[in-house]
Amino acid sequence: MVRRVLVVGGSKGAGALIAQRLAGSGYTVRVLARDPVAAVARLGRDIEIVEGDLTRAETLPRAVEGVDDIVFTAGVPSGRYAPESLVRATDYQGALDTMAAARAAGMHGRFVYLNSIGVTVPSLSATLLNLLKGNALVWRRRLEDNIRAGGLDYAIIRVGFLIDSPGGKRAIRVTQQALPLAPWRWIARADVAEIFAEAVENSSASRATFDIVWGSGKRSGTAAELLAGLKADR
Ligand SMILES: NC(=O)c1ccc[n+]([C@@H]2O[C@H](COP(=O)([O-])OP(=O)(O)OC[C@H]3O[C@@H](n4cnc5c(N)ncnc54)[C@H](OP(=O)(O)O)[C@@H]3O)[C@@H](O)[C@H]2O)c1
Repeated sequence: MVRRVLVVGGSKGAGALIAQRLAGSGYTVRVLARDPVAAVARLGRDIEIVEGDLTRAETLPRAVEGVDDIVFTAGVPSGRYAPESLVRATDYQGALDTMAAARAAGMHGRFVYLNSIGVTVPSLSATLLNLLKGNALVWRRRLEDNIRAGGLDYAIIRVGFLIDSPGGKRAIRVTQQALPLAPWRWIARADVAEIFAEAVENSSASRATFDIVWGSGKRSGTAAELLAGLKADR
């Protein structure tokens, strides 16, 4: 049976690339979108669009109905000021409400969560980001604890700074030693999309938390090979 995957955050950025990659790999893909018209224009008609907003919990049951897995990449926009109330409502409570709706709908598959590197390791970059964007890394760390305790299968993937650049060129470093946030730790959204698409079903990613950033040198190994050494969280 073809699995149906909901991508929350799939209307743009890394989430849109993940949605397109999953659809290209044969999954049935649904995207939650605040602006369905813009989402259809961006994603085309092969991807189902369901109107909804993370800050309006009552819109989420329809989005999760009948889905096998969820990829969650949504968040308040980066690189500009955001009040803590908005960050908490979107990045934290929105994700909790999505998981609650999924459990209520009887979802048995995986919740694949996109987080930032540096949520557990102090750094100047993390301090500055928290000041600019309403303690985002604090809320996102708290969310990780809820995901691990929440009863759904999950993968928590922390990414470095995201750039728009072709994927498959640079080595991808996959590590379970938490990295500090730093401006030189980055990765292409296209590479992120490849790893996320693999993590939906890869057994090594189940209940695992790991960081992905560009390493040195050229890319070698498939996404499955890159995830092969992962250990489940304790
Ligand atoms: N940029 C970086 O360097 C970086 C680094 C580490 C982690 N991250 C995280 O990675 C994720 C993807 O980043 P990105 O730059 O590729 O994408 P992005 O452009 O920040 O897209 C964020 C997505 O979240 C959605 N969203 C925001 N608020 C929402 C709400 N209330 N209800 C439903 N959807 C909502 C947006 O939908 P709309 O289309 O409706 O706006 C959009 O699809 C984000 O969570 C970001 O915080 C980013």
